[in-house]
Amino acid sequence: MDILKCFVGALIFTSLGTFCSTKIENGGKNIVCYYHQTLYFPPSEVPHQLCTHIVYAFASISNDTIVPDRPGDTETYDVLVGFKASNPKLKVMLSLQLGFNNVVTDPDTMKKFAINAIGFLRHYGFDGIDFDWEFPKASQKNRYMQFIQIFRAQTSLDSRLGNQTALLISMALPNNNHQASILYDYTILNNNIDFATLMAYDFHMYIPNVENITGYNSPLVAPIGENPNSSTSGLIAIYLGLGLTPEKALAGIPTYGRSYTLANVKQHGLHSPAIEPGDPGPVRHLRGVYTFTDTCAALKLGGTSVWDPVSLVPYLYWGKSWVSYASEKSVAGKVRWAVSKGLGGVGVWAIHLDDLTGECPGPKLPLINAIHSAMKSTRNHCL
Ligand SMILES: *[C@@H]1O[C@H](CO)[C@@H](O)[C@H](O)[C@H]1NC(C)=O
Ligand SMILES: *[C@@H]1O[C@H](CO)[C@@H](O)[C@H](O)[C@H]1NC(C)=O
Ligand SMILES: *[C@@H]1O[C@H](CO)[C@@H](O)[C@H](O)[C@H]1NC(C)=O
Ligand SMILES: *[C@@H]1O[C@H](CO)[C@@H](O)[C@H](O)[C@H]1NC(C)=O
Repeated sequence: MDILKCFVGALIFTSLGTFCSTKIENGGKNIVCYYHQTLYFPPSEVPHQLCTHIVYAFASISNDTIVPDRPGDTETYDVLVGFKASNPKLKVMLSLQLGFNNVVTDPDTMKKFAINAIGFLRHYGFDGIDFDWEFPKASQKNRYMQFIQIFRAQTSLDSRLGNQTALLISMALPNNNHQASILYDYTILNNNIDFATLMAYDFHMYIPNVENITGYNSPLVAPIGENPNSSTSGLIAIYLGLGLTPEKALAGIPTYGRSYTLANVKQHGLHSPAIEPGDPGPVRHLRGVYTFTDTCAALKLGGTSVWDPVSLVPYLYWGKSWVSYASEKSVAGKVRWAVSKGLGGVGVWAIHLDDLTGECPGPKLPLINAIHSAMKSTRNHCL
């Protein structure tokens, strides 16, 4: 009865925001969507209604401030931030990848950078920043953690002085136990960041002589016989074991696939011999990587899809290509799993690798839609 009342209430009052908060409309959890501008995916097509946060990738650090990576990026910032006019609950963030070495040095430089960066973010109307340093050296751990604390202190000061909501701070964190264990202090992260996307992908890809059998990019559960840490569930267990607060942990979900060239077209299961990265996909022509558009095209052209009931992900084989990819079913399963573990939500890499063309059956952007629907369906009550 309460559920029914609540559901009706949500329908009636959603737009007024008086009954169910945004978070509850999203099953209580965040959907943090990374986006990188490409020719085939203009910013105007970013599905801002399907994400709680849009993170624009990337800008760089230079001269103790943030600099856009490409001419025209500031126009993209305006488009993304502009979505907030019609969607005021949306948060738009900017992700930094290069240049940390120059500012993760001494406290004065860190503070100077923080002040400049906050000025830059406020100027363009961003709601926060994402630190995607891949990766500090072990010897830089203490300084990086100091940098995060100084940045947080400056965002707090900025929010008090400007009487405005504090900028959000997020991070992208690596996909293995070794780096997770040595590069970060989780007490400092818990106290100073809003959330982190745990990059639960690239567990396997073709590497000559090192990874020359087919494997999954992002299994929820590792296949029998493989290192259990090399999976979404295994990676998240590592971070929670290290002390990252579950509500700050986002399960990273890839929308792309990783392709291999089979040694023998007749041997096309998991762990089959491979001799090269996969041939360029049929639409986007990337070697070793399939966007979801490529996956749907390959399946239409006669590729065979196989679901793995242990790892809860599919793969396809098509001629001599073998692709570990994400489907609506696999991404929805990860969303439900993340919510069941009490995580803060999911971090999706990336919007532009989903299908915008209509090559896939169903709605445009099937994977982001599946993630959004799965998150909504995890709602069971309001208040
Ligand atoms: C850094 O600042 C110097 C001096 O203002 C300027 O000459 C240089 O072009 C700047 N570099 C970048 C990458 O913006
Ligand atoms: C701060 O903002 C709030 C809400 O916008 C407003 O009610 C309050 O008066 C502001 N305080 C100051 C000191 O400007
Ligand atoms: C895979 O790599 C191993 C180890 O370097 C090598 O012995 C083997 O021949 C390789 N197999 C293929 C199919 O390339
Ligand atoms: C998996 O990660 C745990 C830490 O959570 C570590 O103790 C263990 O050695 C790792 N296992 C393998 C096979 O790497």
